[in-house]
Amino acid sequence: MASGTVPGAGSGFALFQNPLAVRDAPYGRVQETVMDDAGHRAAFDEITRWPGYRETPLIALDDVARESGVAAVHYKDEGGRFGLGSFKALGGAYAVRRHLAGIVEAKRGAPVTTDDLLQHRHGDVTGGVTVTTATDGNHGRSVAWGAQLFGCRAVIYIHAHVSAGRQAEIERYGATVVRTPGNYDDSVRQAAADAAANGWTVVSDTSYEGYREIPRAVMHGYTVMAEEALRQWPAREPPTHCLVQGGVGALPAAVAAHLWQRLGARRPHFVVVEPERAACLYASARAGKPTAITGALDTMMAGLACGEVSSLAWDLLARAGDAFVTIPDQAAIDAMRLLAARPAPVIAGESAVAGLGALRLIAADPAARAALRLGPDSRVLLFGSEGATDPALYAKIVGRSPEAVAGAFISRDGTQPAGD
Ligand SMILES: Cc1ncc(COP(=O)(O)O)c(C=O)c1O
Repeated sequence: MASGTVPGAGSGFALFQNPLAVRDAPYGRVQETVMDDAGHRAAFDEITRWPGYRETPLIALDDVARESGVAAVHYKDEGGRFGLGSFKALGGAYAVRRHLAGIVEAKRGAPVTTDDLLQHRHGDVTGGVTVTTATDGNHGRSVAWGAQLFGCRAVIYIHAHVSAGRQAEIERYGATVVRTPGNYDDSVRQAAADAAANGWTVVSDTSYEGYREIPRAVMHGYTVMAEEALRQWPAREPPTHCLVQGGVGALPAAVAAHLWQRLGARRPHFVVVEPERAACLYASARAGKPTAITGALDTMMAGLACGEVSSLAWDLLARAGDAFVTIPDQAAIDAMRLLAARPAPVIAGESAVAGLGALRLIAADPAARAALRLGPDSRVLLFGSEGATDPALYAKIVGRSPEAVAGAFISRDGTQPAGD
């Protein structure tokens, strides 16, 4: 694939083909330091034992495939994940569990089981631990849930633009929520400072110099979703394209790593998608190194409103990201409405549909189609990373509440679609 910028012909997207991407190289030593197979297997073994575990559905969007002029589009709908509404349930909670197991094992000098932790059998130890993180909603919800599930305290930092609804969803799991001025990156700094002052453990989804192990556990949790998608993939041939939205980049990096490890050179072309006003991964790809974006990061796609990449994620995406795309908010709005209006509706939040929004813009643009080799034989894999995690905003955008959209549809087997 040639490198360079393909301007989206008037439709507001931008596409950069990454000159650092390697397609034919094996999954190498640098990549292993980010995500390794043993870490994936440990996460899969653990998370599939948790109460309430169920594979999320991989939905065939035949209507989108037709509209986009490709053979197939499949959408992994994370809206129903553990009742938390997003794929983030897999990451933060898993990192909390690993952290607590490490502390208990060091104290007791013996291994602890999942059941021990779920039953709070070492509550005298875990009850003295406080985990903390900054969040725009979904990650904090996962850390709060993990703390409640495995028996420790959580203090969660949210920035000025996080909605009251998202705050309530975190508090629901017993966490203390602290609201800070400024944007997401400011809340990250505040959480780190307060953790240092109080002896708390930061369970962040973003990694920085000297802080890799916990974000690595978070990302290993996310690989469970990618593995499920490959097991559910209905065709003999693997996907040819995968478009995944990024905030700090942990989600796309975990997915790209897993696809590379499992499929090698047959892995799909990997496209990282961001909102145009919070495109730190795109800026990093253009610069060839981690590059921060400043400002209000003003986008409706709250989960993607990040200005600084995770260094761990960047180490992987620098080679695994074939292209980086930015899209306007309108593309997400259109994609949410399209999914809600299908005969079998899919309830998706703003950040869930960036990959779908990008696919539709790219598919309608001959230069971008050619650049990504998107054609009638292409098989596209998308990750719908959340349901309606902010129901009030969902209703404003779609014109109906998530319940009304779900209620309008009763499937042939009498079940309703997964949603938040
Ligand atoms: C729903 C949703 N999708 C995608 C992302 C992006 O994930 P990451 O920041 O790991 O790139 C987030 C992050 O919060 C999210 O909440």
